[in-house]
Amino acid sequence: MIVVTGATGQLGHAIVEQLARLVPPSQLGASCRDPNQASALASLGVRVRRGDFEDGASLRHAFAGAQQVLLVSSNARATGGDTLAQHRTAIDAARAVGAKRIVYTSHTAASAGSAFPPMLDHAATELMLRDSGLAWTSLRNGFYASSGIALLGDALQTGLVEAPRDGKVSWTAHADLAEAAAIVLASEGRFEGPTPPLTASQALDLSDLARIASELLGKTVRRETITDEELEARLAARGAGRAAAIVLGLYRASRNGEFAAVDPTLSDLLRRAPTTLRQVLGPVLGTSSRAP
Ligand SMILES: NC(=O)c1ccc[n+]([C@@H]2O[C@H](COP(=O)([O-])OP(=O)(O)OC[C@H]3O[C@@H](n4cnc5c(N)ncnc54)[C@H](OP(=O)(O)O)[C@@H]3O)[C@@H](O)[C@H]2O)c1
Repeated sequence: MIVVTGATGQLGHAIVEQLARLVPPSQLGASCRDPNQASALASLGVRVRRGDFEDGASLRHAFAGAQQVLLVSSNARATGGDTLAQHRTAIDAARAVGAKRIVYTSHTAASAGSAFPPMLDHAATELMLRDSGLAWTSLRNGFYASSGIALLGDALQTGLVEAPRDGKVSWTAHADLAEAAAIVLASEGRFEGPTPPLTASQALDLSDLARIASELLGKTVRRETITDEELEARLAARGAGRAAAIVLGLYRASRNGEFAAVDPTLSDLLRRAPTTLRQVLGPVLGTSSRAP
């Protein structure tokens, strides 16, 4: 059995759906905080159980019988929670039920030296996995294309994106990462430890995103540079709280080149070209993505 956490989240849900194409649904388990939100997976024949990273007993019940657990990383840090304690609880639960392998959704830029705080959690979790005594695979996922689109903010309406200096980022589609995760899970043992970066084929900065948005919208979206201090003041005015440090860290890491790696491994796993940022943005704007 393969059990997937975060099964009512964007990535986890898509991973279960992709897995159901590769293995019998009776061999799949979905772990989520609210099973009522997972009725679509239950109707596929997937076992749905409540599993909360704050409640080890619930995870042991949700993981029971699992050979492999796909651990979707927690985002608790963004809201003041303890991401690493949650990951520790999940890893302990996987070991307690006798799972043989944990597959973890990490990030291309996972590093103890990153300027982007979530990358510290990914690096620390990889160390926990290394020390867990279980076989493990860390999917070094590219930065979500949806996060890049979120950085455009209201620029799609106003025609202006103002942000600190940034760098190239290999924006990658959720759907591609989910499909790759399912392939890795279904071919147990394909990767040991961290994978190569799982990225789209191109790295783009915010100027590139503004240009693509302009082409898709048929109107100019300008990119203007502001200082980190200006962004910090704007975030404080909006009451961003602890999220401000994460956003500022993203720009620092981006211009340090932390997210710029491009690698063919995702394309090799999918046996096709990865989805482009343009292809993700097109439907968001309600326009065709078939421009050059
Ligand atoms: N690669 C990247 O660029 C990138 C960017 C942003 C975030 N991330 C990471 O990728 C993860 C998955 O992304 P996503 O788009 O699928 O995010 P998402 O849609 O927000 O899903 C996050 C999942 O985590 C679950 N969760 C939250 N707290 C939990 C808890 N205490 N116990 C068990 N589950 C809990 C949520 O459960 P509910 O459904 O019950 O809310 C949800 O299913 C994020 O959590 C974050 O760590 C990666």
